[in-house]
Amino acid sequence: MIVRKPPMGWNSWNTFGRNIDEKLIMETADAMVESGMLDAGYEYLVIDDCWSEKKRDANGRLVADPEKFPNGMKAVADYVHSKGLKFGMYSCCGSMTCAGYPGSFDYEFIDAETFASWGVDYLKYDYCFRPMDQQGHLLYKKMGLALANCGRDICFSACSWGADQTNEWIKQTGAHLWRSTGDIVDSWDSVKSLIIKQDEYLTTNGQGCFNDMDMLIVGMRGKGNVGLSGCTDEEYRTHFSAWAFLGSPLMAGGDVRDMDETTKSILLDKEIIAINQDEAYRQPFNCGNHWKINDVKVWAKYLEGGDIAIGIFNLTDHAADPFIPLDALGLSRVSGKAVSVRDLWKKEELGVYADVFRTDHIPAHECRMYRFKVVDAK
Ligand code: GLA
Repeated sequence: MIVRKPPMGWNSWNTFGRNIDEKLIMETADAMVESGMLDAGYEYLVIDDCWSEKKRDANGRLVADPEKFPNGMKAVADYVHSKGLKFGMYSCCGSMTCAGYPGSFDYEFIDAETFASWGVDYLKYDYCFRPMDQQGHLLYKKMGLALANCGRDICFSACSWGADQTNEWIKQTGAHLWRSTGDIVDSWDSVKSLIIKQDEYLTTNGQGCFNDMDMLIVGMRGKGNVGLSGCTDEEYRTHFSAWAFLGSPLMAGGDVRDMDETTKSILLDKEIIAINQDEAYRQPFNCGNHWKINDVKVWAKYLEGGDIAIGIFNLTDHAADPFIPLDALGLSRVSGKAVSVRDLWKKEELGVYADVFRTDHIPAHECRMYRFKVVDAK
């Protein structure tokens, strides 16, 4: 299976934690279609931890909790598929999942077969309760190989939080995406720290195994399993933009049955999603006068077809006025080229700039997402 673009979808953990059941999943599937999420690209519906019985059956197989899923997982998968969505589930490379349910250690091939028989299309694979004599890369190789031989295309979503230098070995394992950081919670501090951490990982971005910055908290507003202080609308916009810009999978984590208009307008923005789903999926790079100086991130990314995406994230508590010398993008003064700039959130053409592009005043915690088109300088 080749996964060419960062997966998009929804995951149950951020809002629902252990409070998951068949009704929630079916209603969420309905909502993903009715809200326009599926049309926008959110195709995977993923059930996270806490879905199984505490014990395997007599044949060593995982069993869905009959109270939460009375018709079994195959029926849930069938419903999700009937809506045109793909179905994802969760397990762990240790003896137990992070919440204490049976893990897949030493059951990798049996579990991969079980998931395939239920019609699973995506497996999130966690890193809790691993035997200390087993190295992480081997634990992920075991499941990677089991999935590759289970007879069904299953997207393999590794979740070892960037621990034990995951970036150095994860591409060996067959994983299609890898979690590069610890768990997100619904607060600005969490979003900020996860974005800052990404400066270390820019060189690991690129096609082949997508850098997963964790599920989205857009629109949670402090409610739910990882709900904390919540964020402002602008902070949610900055969060979504950074995930989209850096090529992270976009897995919504709020209650999509009940999204307000602002949440929808963020999650469904076509131009921002297009930056995330760009065919080339190139590595982003630092540019601009603020880079490495403080917490105003000024990142660029070459897009398929010759445009350049620019993402500017003001993570500080004061306003910023960054600028980008076009030389830093590969457009020297002698090239005779300039850039025509579109502000992707404001939906405005800002004009043509040569030599340097200066932003407007960017308030604390806000971002700017631009698309630069290379044109002839006048
Ligand atoms: C870990 C993962 C989370 C979630 C929980 C479930 O903390 O990083 O994303 O899956 O386990 O227990």
